[in-house]
Amino acid sequence: MNQIQSVLITGANAGLGREAARQLALKKGIAKIYLACRNPNKAEAAKAALENETGRKIFEVVLMDVTDPKAVRAAVAELSTPIDAVILNAGGTGGQRPNSLTREGVTNIFATNVLGHFVLVDELLQRQLVTSTILYAGSEAARGIPKMGMNRPDLSQGTVDEFKAIADGSKFGPEGDPLQTYGYAKLVAALWMGAMARQHPHIRFVTMSPGGTTGTAGFDDLPLMKRIFFKHVGGVLMPLFGMMHGVETGAKRYLDGLFNPEFKTGRFYASRAGYPTGPVVDQANIDETLSNITTQDNAEQALRQFA
Ligand SMILES: NC(=O)c1ccc[n+]([C@@H]2O[C@H](COP(=O)([O-])OP(=O)(O)OC[C@H]3O[C@@H](n4cnc5c(N)ncnc54)[C@H](OP(=O)(O)O)[C@@H]3O)[C@@H](O)[C@H]2O)c1
Repeated sequence: MNQIQSVLITGANAGLGREAARQLALKKGIAKIYLACRNPNKAEAAKAALENETGRKIFEVVLMDVTDPKAVRAAVAELSTPIDAVILNAGGTGGQRPNSLTREGVTNIFATNVLGHFVLVDELLQRQLVTSTILYAGSEAARGIPKMGMNRPDLSQGTVDEFKAIADGSKFGPEGDPLQTYGYAKLVAALWMGAMARQHPHIRFVTMSPGGTTGTAGFDDLPLMKRIFFKHVGGVLMPLFGMMHGVETGAKRYLDGLFNPEFKTGRFYASRAGYPTGPVVDQANIDETLSNITTQDNAEQALRQFA
């Protein structure tokens, strides 16, 4: 594995992305951190705060809205030096209108969590601008968290058409519940990462869930009752029951995925079955679909048709 000295993080101005930037800046050997964000004011504020907190002036803002492939391509075109590692962290439940379609014909929730990152990785690889590791922020929702009301995503055949129907929302209809469709999006991304690992053996592709993490804005766009449950009731009670951990613990999982070679390329690591926190394990032991090569390739092909 190449030594990692530079890292680009999407969604780096808040939550887990920002905390990962802070932890990386304090790590020996890290010389450059790109904060890829969609909002210039929030990005500059995060950069100033991170410089202040870490005493290091190694942060550079890259403006990038991951729901817009054109913006992602333009941002990559501005990069002049290869980056060692990328953390594909931007994501969430898709804003105020998670089921609305983007210009590319995918739902906002899918664009935010998957399609923009697909385009980013594709561009970086084509331009030979990434040298070592790509880490995707997965979620336990990809194999279901029944205790938190997230069902296990139900793939019928795992065909290219089924993955396209997940991407454009037709599998769920206009009222698709973002708490459920989010899990499908994260599952498609983990499968795509598996396909990429086989296609590009010189790069590590690790999917790592940060685990149930409190103190982030992750559930702010959910409908009122769900938001109250997750943020205000859950945010207090779930840590007490070991259902959520702090942002430091969540972001540390990203760093483990980047630097610990025990985390293998093409694999998806997250908490044990039934749990959103605690030790991480290879999720293919929970859901064997994850290591099905045909299903991985179908997910990748479906994504390519929207990019
Ligand atoms: N928190 C959890 O319990 C948990 C569990 C498993 C997985 N995850 C995953 O971890 C990642 C980070 O979650 P979080 O809890 O830290 O969320 P968060 O606090 O809401 O932060 C999300 C970050 O992503 C950015 N972002 C959102 N949409 C974007 C877009 N279209 N383009 C560029 N940046 C965008 C946000 O920027 P703005 O400030 O501009 O909105 C923000 O910086 C997500 O992928 C999430 O799915 C979280």
